Amino acid sequence: MFGQPLRHLENTASTNDVALQWAQEGAPHGAVVRADSQSDGRGRQGRNWVSPRGCGLYFSLITRDEIALQAVPQLTMIAALGVARALEKIAPASTRAAVKWPNDIVLNEKKIGGVLCESRSRESGAQSGEARAEFVVIGIGLNVNFARADLPPQTKIPASSLQIESGKPFDLDEVLAMVLRGIEEAHREYSQGNWNALRREWMQRDFLQGRRVKVEGARETFCGVAVGVDESGLLRVSSEGKTRVVLAGDVTLDED
Ligand code: BTN
Repeated sequence: MFGQPLRHLENTASTNDVALQWAQEGAPHGAVVRADSQSDGRGRQGRNWVSPRGCGLYFSLITRDEIALQAVPQLTMIAALGVARALEKIAPASTRAAVKWPNDIVLNEKKIGGVLCESRSRESGAQSGEARAEFVVIGIGLNVNFARADLPPQTKIPASSLQIESGKPFDLDEVLAMVLRGIEEAHREYSQGNWNALRREWMQRDFLQGRRVKVEGARETFCGVAVGVDESGLLRVSSEGKTRVVLAGDVTLDED
């Protein structure tokens, strides 16, 4: 069961670091590290993840998915989908929870959470030549009871919290339990080979679908219309008559 065993810390630099260490030492599939606050929480692309006590959920789930390293981004999408499903049960009055490639959780067009997967690989088999994960740490930050004034000022899309969107505070323990259940369910479907159905559901919740976007990659920046994700989970953008596949980068709306 996801969340067992659970290590609950008052404060740590980053729950992902604690989970990576614990996984190296043999933590089982489903183990979770949670912290009330983080002093050095990190997001994608080396960004800081603001993690004050009482405002959000900061936790890292260890999975022993021996998947190819290229498939790890799929786990990011599965986790975001599990969180989005759970949010609709936690705050049913809010509009449909969305996901934004590659790792954001969005409510009412605002980012309220993010996923940061980090993995360690074992030596790849000599014949296959394909590196496989030994374990994956799925780090999740969710803005639960942030007031507007506590939110980080500059984000790629406007940030919000469950409390702001629903007009009431939430019990962090209850939210964690429901979110873990949502991720466990989505993960089970993934393990049963239902990636394509999950990908379709992800695309139904896709915040960028059919919208004009700006892609800032390592080597170039270009604009186009987001048209879902391919079988590997890479973003597809239609630009100047061609469909381009985005491996990594920042994607923002490019609308008036
Ligand atoms: C992002 O949107 O860039 C991903 C944010 C992930 C933040 C979480 S909080 C728990 C875990 N520990 C970290 O240092 N990062 C992740």
